[in-house]
Amino acid sequence: MRYYLKCTKCGSTFESDYRSQICSRCSGILEVVYAHKPAMGREKLSSFWDFVPVLPSGNYCRYEVGLTKIIKSTDLSNTYMKLEVGNPTHSFKDRGSVIEIGKAHDYGYKEVVCASTGNMAYSVAYYAKLYGMKAKIFISSNASRDKVRDIRDTHDADVTRVDGDFNKAQRLAEAYARRNGAFLAGDYCYRKEGQKTIAYEIILSGIGADSILVPVGNATLLSGTFKAIEEIRAAKRTSSMPAVIGVEARACSPLYKAFKESRGVEYETPRTKADAIAVGYPTFGNQALEYMQKRSGAMGTVSESDMSKEQQSFTERYGLTVELAAVAPLAFLRNGKGVPKGIRAAVITGANV
Ligand SMILES: Cc1ncc(COP(=O)(O)O)c(C=O)c1O
Repeated sequence: MRYYLKCTKCGSTFESDYRSQICSRCSGILEVVYAHKPAMGREKLSSFWDFVPVLPSGNYCRYEVGLTKIIKSTDLSNTYMKLEVGNPTHSFKDRGSVIEIGKAHDYGYKEVVCASTGNMAYSVAYYAKLYGMKAKIFISSNASRDKVRDIRDTHDADVTRVDGDFNKAQRLAEAYARRNGAFLAGDYCYRKEGQKTIAYEIILSGIGADSILVPVGNATLLSGTFKAIEEIRAAKRTSSMPAVIGVEARACSPLYKAFKESRGVEYETPRTKADAIAVGYPTFGNQALEYMQKRSGAMGTVSESDMSKEQQSFTERYGLTVELAAVAPLAFLRNGKGVPKGIRAAVITGANV
């Protein structure tokens, strides 16, 4: 669908041939704005590419991704689980990467660079290789050794392990992109467009979810979920829309605190073992807060031990390996305060341990 880019900070606009996801005037994060109301052509999905009418126009290679299974929890009542571990690199990141790296390829870049806590790097490196591009990765010090080895050995990426957290890696990736003319990939607007398709799939599945629960690191998935809901509501697909609950690790909960205290997001040193959501300053945090104020949304937190127990019991029950961050929504449903009523859909985001 035809679109332009709009800065979330200063409101400047850019045509779709603008080759960056960051505003050249104020360094704010850009957002994809569609020329017309995006609306799905069909409700019965047979491929991820059925989402083309609600995605930014581009010459994408149509690699198959998404359309992941939804199964019912065997022990939490009224709870469905969206198994994003079924994606090619075992995490929800692939939906965003196929779009974002496709745009970089479209613009003629030969190299992409990104900062990551692990999964994004894995996914970006995989799609960069498919699209025939080089990948440079800055990975935070808390990422597991196995993830780093896989990214380097399986997908031929050039990986620098940063002595610091995700936000430090992000600054290094941005500087690398400026210095080397590489496309800056990561938690920016094109990825969000790909990731919003999870909410589309949940709503179109017909399970009748009253709420969607997602783990939160950079809040790209959270704000993408809200964006999908706004689009579907505007296209009048359905009148009642699910509430959205973001779940952070208690040991790294900058967005939860900002939400509770009705203020902007402030940096917090990440202290959680759930490496995928160890983000001290979420890129899309303030935008997600705006959505939460406007729409039906809330934040919750989970303890380290509740995530560990949930991870173990998930593997025992379903025979699937998942990472700590991925079970944060389930841990919240089991132990949290303010658990939503009705039918709940928890997004199980990744399996890369
Ligand atoms: C497995 C997993 N779950 C959740 C998240 C959080 O997603 P977001 O950064 O969009 O908030 C990530 C991000 O890396 C992840 O890898």
